[in-house]
Amino acid sequence: MPRLRPYGPKDWPHFIALELDTQLDSLGDSTETERATLRERFPALLDVKMAFSKNGFRRPGAELWVLEGDAGEYLGHLWLSLRDDARTGTPTLQVTTLGIVREARGRNYGRLLMQKAEQSAREKGIEVIALEVAGNNRRARDLFKDLGYDTIRRTMHKRLR
Ligand SMILES: CC(C)(COP(=O)(O)OP(=O)(O)OC[C@H]1O[C@@H](n2cnc3c(N)ncnc32)[C@H](O)[C@@H]1OP(=O)(O)O)[C@@H](O)C(=O)NCCC(=O)NCCS
Repeated sequence: MPRLRPYGPKDWPHFIALELDTQLDSLGDSTETERATLRERFPALLDVKMAFSKNGFRRPGAELWVLEGDAGEYLGHLWLSLRDDARTGTPTLQVTTLGIVREARGRNYGRLLMQKAEQSAREKGIEVIALEVAGNNRRARDLFKDLGYDTIRRTMHKRLR
């Protein structure tokens, strides 16, 4: 049975590879230059914007869980952040990101990670879980919808050619 444990520095290459993969997929209709730029900037973005680097978080209020298989293999991760909703002040648990490695998808591990998010929110007395998902990410949207998440905002863009 896979188990969830806190992130450690040895997870860094796996975390970065899966997360970059997810971010690249979420770009949708993008140019090769944009993709190359994201690849190059990604670790620095995590460091500067999220205060996260190989050794972990530099500020409190966030947790990163790693899903590990029986043989210790990296199966996926779940990043949770505490924040108050900017408009309403409601304490919210943000699923900053989650991912399952490609070869392990479709085995209910994504569902398991989201159960962990709910459990963590309950333990903290938090009643709202929020997340952002790319419009082209059908699989993740289906999962969240099935778990009872509603869409409250859409971000739209148009590329002028
Ligand atoms: C989204 C993701 C986490 C789902 O994880 P997973 O382990 O494959 O999902 P599960 O096996 O738990 O399946 C949960 C639900 O996802 C959907 N799903 C799973 N496999 C699917 C497939 N091949 N096609 C379409 N939907 C699928 C179904 O709704 C499924 O529910 P079901 O089990 O009742 O059929 C995974 O696909 C992933 O890591 N994607 C890349 C990273 C990502 O998109 N993260 C989300 C960013 S917000």
